[in-house]
Amino acid sequence: MTHHDTLQELLADPRVGKNPQLWTVFREGRLPEGWPLINFVTVPGMITTDGDDHRRLRGLVTQAFTPRRVAALQPAIEARTVALLDRIAGLEGEFDLREHFAYPLPMQVIGELLGLPPKQQDELHELSDTLVSSSATPEAAVAAQRALFALLASVVAAKRAEPGDDLTTDLIAAREDTDRLSEQELVGTLLLMLVAGHETTLNLITNAVRALLAHPDQLELVLNGTASWSAVVEETLRYDSPVGQFPLRYAVEDIPVGDAVIRRGDALLASYAAAGRDSGHYEEADRFDLTRKPNRHLSFGHGPHFCLGSGLARMEAETALRSLFARYPELALAQGPAPEPIGSFVSNSVRTLRVTV
Ligand code: HEM
Repeated sequence: MTHHDTLQELLADPRVGKNPQLWTVFREGRLPEGWPLINFVTVPGMITTDGDDHRRLRGLVTQAFTPRRVAALQPAIEARTVALLDRIAGLEGEFDLREHFAYPLPMQVIGELLGLPPKQQDELHELSDTLVSSSATPEAAVAAQRALFALLASVVAAKRAEPGDDLTTDLIAAREDTDRLSEQELVGTLLLMLVAGHETTLNLITNAVRALLAHPDQLELVLNGTASWSAVVEETLRYDSPVGQFPLRYAVEDIPVGDAVIRRGDALLASYAAAGRDSGHYEEADRFDLTRKPNRHLSFGHGPHFCLGSGLARMEAETALRSLFARYPELALAQGPAPEPIGSFVSNSVRTLRVTV
């Protein structure tokens, strides 16, 4: 699904589901050993369920992930941004903005939201990176998923012993009050929140800085107040979608699409990066244009699986970008070869973003 309009229709189409049992190849055990995207298909949680099961799992997180809790994070986001910018001031000359700014901010924020131990955040990030990197060896991907499950299960055990004011504690309470969440689903949900909650925002901040520095005329528009930081965030989401592709969906019945038919039991892949550059939908789709109106992209998904963290991601990215360019208006891309892409089917960004201040 690469065209904007087709993608939008199919994401909300009840003839398309996310339960892997709908996929003939999976149900018949025909997936090759070590297939690299297996984690996305089998992780227990809301991204692999439909209908009532999906509503139950999503409802529990929505309850815990309230707008109040998100809004309450704003002062912490501001404070962490300032602390990171102070640290950057200590880095002489050229440095990797992805490593020193775009990564730690969302990781610290999701860590705070979930109540993760700060000391284990780098380890969690490395495991999560391996999980979303479709170029990791199958053994490494499976080992990463196991290690992440074990680590998050130990966080759950610690929170059971000593509850905190965080989403993990709320989910444990939901599990114990009503038994509406199995232990596997609880840990699977934490894993999803951890991965979805920081890899994506990390890419968004990286891609936005890269696009602004590569388009000085657009940067000027936002620095002189003609365009807003919100427009930067929305245009980056469209132009360089942080989630490139998201696996997988399955046809519940035969679905005619244009001249083709998606057969019942076939898999579908949502390509958000391609949809954002669909020239049939956007004028001059390949142009990074902060004055684009309207700019209703699909980069947070659409339909029942629409991103639960879009409000948080927007708030974090806007705060990060506004504060970064207020402190370092002279920020520039470092000389040298173009940065390499991450090498992931899912996560769309560059491995490093070397800049100078
Ligand atoms: C720039 C940042 C982000 C982007 C681009 C993004 C993108 C997406 C997309 C495209 C989907 C739909 C996947 C699909 O079904 O095809 C999604 C779902 C989801 N996102 Fe995000 N996301 C971002 C940030 C976050 C954050 C910060 C959180 C949580 C703290 C989060 C939590 C989730 C969850 C839980 C789902 C699954 C919802 C469901 O299956 O019902 N996301 N996101």
